[in-house]
Amino acid sequence: MAINTNATERTRARYERIAPLYDCIETLAERRHRLWRKRLWSLVEGPRVLEVGVGTGKNMSYYPEGMEITAIDLTPGMLERARQRAEALNVSVDLRLGDVQALDFLDNRFDDAVATFVFCSVPDPLLGLQELERVVKPGGHVLLLEHVRSANPVVGGTHGHAQSPGGAHHGGKHQPAHGGKCTSQWSAPGSGGKPGRGWNLQANCGA
Ligand SMILES: C[S@@+](CC[C@H](N)C(=O)[O-])C[C@H]1O[C@@H](n2cnc3c(N)ncnc32)[C@H](O)[C@@H]1O
Repeated sequence: MAINTNATERTRARYERIAPLYDCIETLAERRHRLWRKRLWSLVEGPRVLEVGVGTGKNMSYYPEGMEITAIDLTPGMLERARQRAEALNVSVDLRLGDVQALDFLDNRFDDAVATFVFCSVPDPLLGLQELERVVKPGGHVLLLEHVRSANPVVGGTHGHAQSPGGAHHGGKHQPAHGGKCTSQWSAPGSGGKPGRGWNLQANCGA
């Protein structure tokens, strides 16, 4: 599958514009996200972990001790802020520019991969998930925290139209708090991945 370079460039440009304001914009939402981040990172076994779409480094406070963490982001402006945060928190992390749709790592390089609020802005999320499957060892985990439509019919009704999960793939239209609508697909456990693998969708931040 080829990368949609125009869409990827638009995503990068959008986050480059947002980068100086990102932490400020997210202040209120972050109060809710903190608990989810903590929970997600408590599930990471490591020791070699890849974080994709590290952004300004909001997950760094939750990195477990003793992990060897590599973190990538598409956007130089976001990554620069992540570098500043890593320095301020004295966190050891290998920060690199990179695109989850074309990862610059060998197969089976990591024990686990993590992404928080990233896949709704990746132009081809399926390609990104396939790349994560490639670089994570068999038996490893891909842990995702994403904005999804609420299961609560009242709250969910405010989130726009959504498809129900079904068949070999889960598909959904999400309306992320920070942007427009987008569509993503990811492999359901046992449907397309190698044996012993599964995609974990860990959180519903919509309600
Ligand atoms: C909404 S921010 C989330 C940042 C951070 N993960 C957090 O939880 O605050 C989305 C991040 O994903 C990055 N991103 C978008 N598309 C990407 C891609 N194809 N590969 C890597 N990072 C990407 C953006 O540059 C941005 O920093």
